[in-house]
Amino acid sequence: MTIEALYSVKNKVALITGGTGVLGSAMALSLAENGAEVICVNRSGKIPESLAVEKHIAVVACDVTHEKALQSLASEIKKRHGSLDILVNAAGGNMPGATIGPTESFFDLDMTAYQKVLELNLTAAVKTTRYLAPLMLQKKKGSIVNISSMTATRPISRVLGYGNAKAGLDHFTKFLACEMAAKFGAGIRVNAIAPGFFLTEQNRSLLTKEDGSFTPRAQAIINHTPMARLGKPDELLGALHWLCSDAASFVNGAIVPVDGGFSAYGGF
Ligand SMILES: NC(=O)c1ccc[n+]([C@@H]2O[C@H](COP(=O)([O-])OP(=O)(O)OC[C@H]3O[C@@H](n4cnc5c(N)ncnc54)[C@H](O)[C@@H]3O)[C@@H](O)[C@H]2O)c1
Repeated sequence: MTIEALYSVKNKVALITGGTGVLGSAMALSLAENGAEVICVNRSGKIPESLAVEKHIAVVACDVTHEKALQSLASEIKKRHGSLDILVNAAGGNMPGATIGPTESFFDLDMTAYQKVLELNLTAAVKTTRYLAPLMLQKKKGSIVNISSMTATRPISRVLGYGNAKAGLDHFTKFLACEMAAKFGAGIRVNAIAPGFFLTEQNRSLLTKEDGSFTPRAQAIINHTPMARLGKPDELLGALHWLCSDAASFVNGAIVPVDGGFSAYGGF
C-alpha cells in the first residue's frame, strides 16, 4: 500500500464539532481538501467565508450541550449520509467567567461558570459521542478524535474548570477506546490530540495585550516550550490525518501531544 493510500480519508464522512472555530476549521478544510465529506457543527449554523469556498463542507447548527439537538443531528446525518466514519470533538474552550482573576484565589471561583466549562469541554463530548458514534456501528469502523489540552495533565494557573474538563476528556478517551474495542470489535478507535498553545479567540485576551504583544502569561508559556513559539493550526493536521486513517489502525486510547515539546520540558 502506498503511504498516500494508508493516510487516505477519501470518501469518508467526518463530523467536527466546533468545526468553524480556529482549530476546527483548519481540520475541516484539510479533511475536505483530501476527499472527505465534512459536516461542521457550531451553534449558529453560519458558515465562515474561509470554509464556504469548499463544496465538501456543510455547516449545521447544533448546541452540543443539548441532548435533544444531538439526537436530531444524528438522525439528520443518518438520513443524509447513512453512516459516519470520523468524529472530532473539538467544540470547547475556556470561558472568561470560569477563570480565576489575577488578583483572586480559588475561593473566588464562580461555581456556575465552572459547571458550564465542564459541561462544554467534557459532558458535551460524551453526549456527542453517545448520540453520533452509533452511526459507526454498522460498518464496525470509525475514528473518534477528542481535542484535549496540555492542561489535562499539567495544571495551568487560573483555569481550573477547563483543566478538570480536559483531564476528564483524556479519561473518557481511554475509557471509550477500551469499551468500543471490547463491545464492538477493534475497528472503532478512540484517540485524542493534546494541542500545546495556539493563539485563538478563546485565549486571545489571556495571551495578548491590546497592542498584540504577548502577556507575561504567554511569554511564560513560550519560555516553557522548547521550540520557543506558539503553534499554528495547520500543525495539528499531521496528527489528525494519521489518527483518522488506516495509518493508525493499531493506535487506540492514545493522547498525542502536538505542543512544540511543552509536555517534555522539565523546567531547567
Ligand atoms: N487554542 C488553543 O491553544 C487550544 C489548545 C488546546 C486545546 N484547544 C481546544 O481546541 C478546541 C478548539 O478550540 P479553538 O481554539 O479552535 O477555539 P474556537 O473558539 O476558535 O472554536 C471553538 C468552536 O466551538 C464552537 N462551540 C462552542 N460552544 C459550542 C456549543 N455549545 N455547541 C456547538 N459548538 C460550540 C464554537 O462555535 C467554535 O466553532 C477546543 O476544544 C479547545 O479547548 C485549544
